Amino acid sequence: NMTEPCTFVIFGATGDLARGKLLPALYHLDAAGRLHPGTRILTTGRRHPDRDAWLSETRADLSGTVRGGLQQEVFTRFADRVDYMQGDLRQADFYKQLQARLADRQGFPADTAFYMALGASDYAGVIENLDRVALLEEQLGWRRVVIEKPFGNDLQSAAILQQKLSNHLREEQIYRIDHYLGKETVRNILVFRFGNVLMEPLWNRDTIDHIQIIHAEPQGIGKRGATYDASGALRDMIQSHLLQLLTFVAMESPVSMAAEALHAEKLKVLKSIRPIPADRIGDYAVRGQYDAGKVGPDDVIAYRDEGRVAADSHTETFAALKLHIDNWRWAGVPFLLRTGKRMTAKQAMVAICFKQPPQQFFRSSHIRCDASNWLLIGIQPNECLRLEMTVKAPGEALATRQTALDAAFRKADETVNDAYEELLLDIVRGDRSLFLSYEEVTQAWQIIDPVLKAWSKPGEDLHLYPAGSWGPRAADRLFDSACQSWRHTL
Ligand code: BG6
Repeated sequence: NMTEPCTFVIFGATGDLARGKLLPALYHLDAAGRLHPGTRILTTGRRHPDRDAWLSETRADLSGTVRGGLQQEVFTRFADRVDYMQGDLRQADFYKQLQARLADRQGFPADTAFYMALGASDYAGVIENLDRVALLEEQLGWRRVVIEKPFGNDLQSAAILQQKLSNHLREEQIYRIDHYLGKETVRNILVFRFGNVLMEPLWNRDTIDHIQIIHAEPQGIGKRGATYDASGALRDMIQSHLLQLLTFVAMESPVSMAAEALHAEKLKVLKSIRPIPADRIGDYAVRGQYDAGKVGPDDVIAYRDEGRVAADSHTETFAALKLHIDNWRWAGVPFLLRTGKRMTAKQAMVAICFKQPPQQFFRSSHIRCDASNWLLIGIQPNECLRLEMTVKAPGEALATRQTALDAAFRKADETVNDAYEELLLDIVRGDRSLFLSYEEVTQAWQIIDPVLKAWSKPGEDLHLYPAGSWGPRAADRLFDSACQSWRHTL
């Protein structure tokens, strides 16, 4: 289970991603004995003058983030692998120092993953500079570069970024990460679909009415005002995570689980998505922005009052999209994607609504008119599979009610690994199957591009919704029938 020794270089060591996700994931891997004793981590940042200062803040961070609380013994081992280098990555000198530090044989293995935990506008410059000091050359060991989303800002800028990267890197060296694919519950979609015979015969237009792919979170945008205001929910969640989830739900069985095979099937799904007509965006997409409201017991401010957000911002914090996949399996089955910040509760799930039986014999005592059968795949925080069925209610003759077959994803004594843990090890193993190909990324931009263009302007179609709600009612109009409605929680 342990991988070969390697070096992780993390650019942006004091940013939210490194502090909140990457370092906790590396710590957890170390705690579980999954990091080779020879693996080393070099972090770089501007703020801390030296390793001690950085490490003491990191220790405090980890105490708050790691599962089961910080264990001193693990932290000591972890700290021994870590080094820190202060510097400004916009200066050419920085790379000479970095090169010297890594070559200094201070025990840094030659196999190296460079992790861009940076603002997207820095990726190309850093990679060019790494190449300039020969840090991307692979004579002594592999050199891989990990790139977070967003990969570009739209179709055109993604192509420009790709062009710049390919001047310095072979495609096999580029790891475009989408942390949703590291979630065990997301990978379970593939196992559930292709590890059983029960579901696959039902997984098509004959039995499925429509599919919802949902992500809601009670958090606002926190300190990300400046970047979020230039991005919005469509770019932040739908272009990446939700479209990726859609590919897992909709793709055909790949010939194997190898990267090329998976990428090919996912790409076929994305290419089969019917383009959204530019003159009918409102029939397919709904945007919203949170107003002031109450999340749980807390009063929270409107999006436009958040720090570093324009007072007249028309950036969407809620987006819902209806897509059609034009292929034999899915013709006529709408896929509804919805995401929002400052919603009532955290809930990420895939909700599959099956068709009604062709005849209604029974007197139903349940309220939903849309369906008798739903399959809910809970991604977080409820990690489960739930199949809702109609059964007879005891007592009255042939009255019915809904019941659910529930399967928790994990047993009480099991933990679910964080998304980044498995993905970090995949990088070391050279397994790109859960990373995105450039074709997938660009196809995903292609799908949302007409909506991005329409939403780049302010308009009355931006619906304000109170913080702490399930988003604007306007999103209901994406359904084809009055009997269909959004599923909110499991
Ligand atoms: C990130 C987005 O990629 O995913 C955030 O930039 C969002 O805005 C987050 O909050 C959601 O991830 P998760 O794993 O918490 O559902």
